[in-house]
Amino acid sequence: MIDAPAIRTQELAKRYGSITALAGLTMTIPRGDIFGFLGPNGAGKTTAVKLLLGLTPPTAGHAEVLGAAIGDRDALRRVGYLPELFRYQSWLSAREVLALHCELAGLDRAAWQREIEDALAIVGLADRGSGRVGTFSKGMQQRLGLGVALLGAPDLVVLDEPTSALDPVGRHDVREIIRGLGERGTTVFLNSHLLSEVEQVCHRVAIVDRGRVVAEGTLDELLGGDTVRIRVTDLDRAAKTGLSRFGQLDDEGEWLVIRGIDTERVPELVADIVRLGGRVHAVEPRHESLEDRFLRLLGQPN
Ligand SMILES: Nc1ncnc2c1ncn2[C@@H]1O[C@H](COP(=O)(O)OP(=O)(O)OP(=O)(O)O)[C@@H](O)[C@H]1O
Ligand SMILES: [Mg+2]
Repeated sequence: MIDAPAIRTQELAKRYGSITALAGLTMTIPRGDIFGFLGPNGAGKTTAVKLLLGLTPPTAGHAEVLGAAIGDRDALRRVGYLPELFRYQSWLSAREVLALHCELAGLDRAAWQREIEDALAIVGLADRGSGRVGTFSKGMQQRLGLGVALLGAPDLVVLDEPTSALDPVGRHDVREIIRGLGERGTTVFLNSHLLSEVEQVCHRVAIVDRGRVVAEGTLDELLGGDTVRIRVTDLDRAAKTGLSRFGQLDDEGEWLVIRGIDTERVPELVADIVRLGGRVHAVEPRHESLEDRFLRLLGQPN
């Protein structure tokens, strides 16, 4: 089913006893998308991944991965996975870990060597291929895990916090790898709480909190324009309310915050305030980051 979306879920849910890890996830991820699945610790991100990969059964709902029911072995062969917490056998070399996974993935033996060397090169471990995992730093182990996820040019790559152990250079490298996957048409499902990372690579994101998706869309849809803060005095409430035609208005006393405004309209906004009798002391336009949006959705002050 080459036309089927990479991932489709319908009210997919998981409970562990009295804990609802995922409350009913409905989403469709088209082929070739780089999708960011964001949320705070304990939100249900890893649970969603485990359900999609058939590692744990859902308690309700359905999902399809690459057009097949979850857990379908043929579909799973075309999925690469970097787990959140993993530990390879410390006595194996990086090449041996990759060879083991070539075998597990059922790759043609004749292709192993090229697959292994390519994976080592892509993740920046070309000169450490014979090094034992037990001698690797945690960042190097994470790179190796990413290499494993890339073996066999999968159609879908699922990465659960791929940069948690990496330094800024490593994070940059991983972003480049993800972009490269996108250019090849590979679908990437990326779990993360590192919002700036996601903002830099993802086409679309879903924000999940306590097992529920609280927002989903392209970054443009989610961020929806810019924000401007204006310090105004002498403007009464009725006049302020009239300004909501410029965007979503938050009255913070002397500061008015207008979200979703097109910055081209800021002069018009200021002129309006003055016309209504307001005195403008400061105007601070700013681009709303994914982090601002995330904190606002999660109801925390920013
Ligand atoms: N095997 C399990 N048994 C019981 N509860 C679990 C199990 N796995 C996860 N949970 C619970 O489900 C909820 C979601 O956990 P999950 O690991 O999916 O969160 P997460 O979004 O990946 O968090 P993090 O950012 O910390 O990785 C948490 O409350 C967690 O305690
Ligand atoms: Mg997790």
